[in-house]
Amino acid sequence: MCGIIGYIGRQQALPIILDGLKNMEYRGYDSAGTIVATQTGIFAEKAVGKIAALGAKVGDPSKIIGSLAIGHTRWATHGGVTEQNAHPHADCGENLWLVHNGIVENHKELKKELIEVGHVFKSETDTEVLVHLIEEARKKHRELELEDVLRISLQKVRGTYGIAVMDRREPQKLIAARNFSPLLLGIGENEYFVASDVSAVIKYTRSIAYLNDGEIAVLTPEGFSVYDFDRNLQTKKLHEIEWSAEEAEKGGYSHFMLKEIFEEPEAIENSMRGRLFPETGEVRLAGLEKFRGILKNTRRILISACGTAYLAGVAGKYMLEEQVGIPAEADVASEFRYRKPVFCEGDLFLALSQSGETADTLAALREAVDKKIPALGIVNVVGSTLARETDAGMYQHIGPEIGVASTKAFTSQIALLTLLTLFLRQDRGMDAVESKRIADALAKIPDLMRRILEKSEYIKEIAKKYCKYENFLYLGRKYNMPVALEGALKLKEISYVHAEGYGAGEMKHGPIAMIDGNFPSVFIAPQDSVYEKMLSNIEEVRARKGPIIAVATEGDMRIRELADDVLYIPKTLELLTPLLTVVPLQLFAYYIGVLRGLDVDKPRNLAKSVTVE
Ligand code: AGP
Repeated sequence: MCGIIGYIGRQQALPIILDGLKNMEYRGYDSAGTIVATQTGIFAEKAVGKIAALGAKVGDPSKIIGSLAIGHTRWATHGGVTEQNAHPHADCGENLWLVHNGIVENHKELKKELIEVGHVFKSETDTEVLVHLIEEARKKHRELELEDVLRISLQKVRGTYGIAVMDRREPQKLIAARNFSPLLLGIGENEYFVASDVSAVIKYTRSIAYLNDGEIAVLTPEGFSVYDFDRNLQTKKLHEIEWSAEEAEKGGYSHFMLKEIFEEPEAIENSMRGRLFPETGEVRLAGLEKFRGILKNTRRILISACGTAYLAGVAGKYMLEEQVGIPAEADVASEFRYRKPVFCEGDLFLALSQSGETADTLAALREAVDKKIPALGIVNVVGSTLARETDAGMYQHIGPEIGVASTKAFTSQIALLTLLTLFLRQDRGMDAVESKRIADALAKIPDLMRRILEKSEYIKEIAKKYCKYENFLYLGRKYNMPVALEGALKLKEISYVHAEGYGAGEMKHGPIAMIDGNFPSVFIAPQDSVYEKMLSNIEEVRARKGPIIAVATEGDMRIRELADDVLYIPKTLELLTPLLTVVPLQLFAYYIGVLRGLDVDKPRNLAKSVTVE
């Protein structure tokens, strides 16, 4: 996610800004920038790449005299990785400067309106719309304070933001506003900070006030005030942060992996924002608009990816076949690229990749592109190779995934595959009532995930009970067969414990020979179309004294009779169950890895992106 830091006070601002940006590097970014209000005007600098590149362009920061400044690390969402797209962004007069976290959903229409009244845009970002909106509002309301002009401007915005704004003509004022994207105030001794997370300011102050959605803060060297959208003054509680700087980077979580598991509800919301409209069941995929013709004539979808992304693709295969009625294949990219696939008229290739740089997935994509097969991508990293080499696609918008083990990327990919399924149903005039039923259920998933996450302490207890076992068998059917493989992959890569993932129907064709009292089985058995089959499999393992952990639907008492331990998930539609059944398995693997004293964020032998074959 992008990083924001602003400063106003008695010290020179620029060294503090650069230091704060450096302390947010862990968040992942691809460019950075800063602006300082100086006695002679402004000092602005931006750079692609690391903070060190920005520092090199700045030179000695103590030579830039000014006590009001803002800085930003950008993780590209709209617009490529370029200096022009790096924040801060300025208005036409280069008086107003703004940094932003979040997504302006209606940026296209706002930009069109602003250009029509003469505004000139320099970047491809959605963010730049905000600073021109404020400039336009300022022209119309010269009598108003900057914070009031900002309030008027933000009323036109649909989407999410955490922003810091300054006007070089008012070097005694720093404004901040929040809607969905976290933003906090650091309260120092006659100096004040605004930041997207504690790690940026913890070196200077541990006294923090968190902004709520719809609040606007006004900071001056003398103090700060916070207002709601109706300009009512708000009293803010000050929190004393006890975290170490390192803990602050992880938002108070012990590891990035745990943080990213707990981010999953928000990640899904961000992936679906501006795309899913449950009130009508409509799905809008702007990135695929120009592709509608090809999608309409698509007769088979070939999904290819690696690791966890591949397993999301298997769930997508089931969904596309069951809900759209077209053939879909899911292949591990490292096999697809060598098995001489036969392509047909009407084929569509779909690559899934969090990093967008996985060598085998890129090779599989190029195999399809060479044969002139239309290619889509579902990718998290904007501007990545895969994003650039596919014809169209969807960005995941989940922020960087730092932990090597993929968690929020998996559930986000499944959510986006569900949106693609609904988009194809919509385009083919399929039963709108059923589509709306799926859309409604999908919109509820983030809150259902939150209910599972509330039980994390219980899952930790179950992990404690099983953390000494050296072998596990994970079993699931249909939509939860890939979840069985994903649960096993999580345990393998995080705790180095041997874990086999299998379709439960295959159990009697070999794996059951391994079962005894020292070989627990994890059954993913929600109440779905294959539930009864799963119960039979559980009975077969039970008869052989194998310990049993079941992931089951809340209220299911039958399975409680059969399993030694049950991890419950809320009820949802069968095709959406992977979004919920995977969460307890992610936590189970995480806690076992921690209990075994391992580095769960950086497991041995693994890289976050496998850019070599
Ligand atoms: C999963 O936890 C692993 N990190 C790995 O299997 C990963 O999913 C795979 O390498 C694919 O990465 P990508 O999504 O960046 O292409």
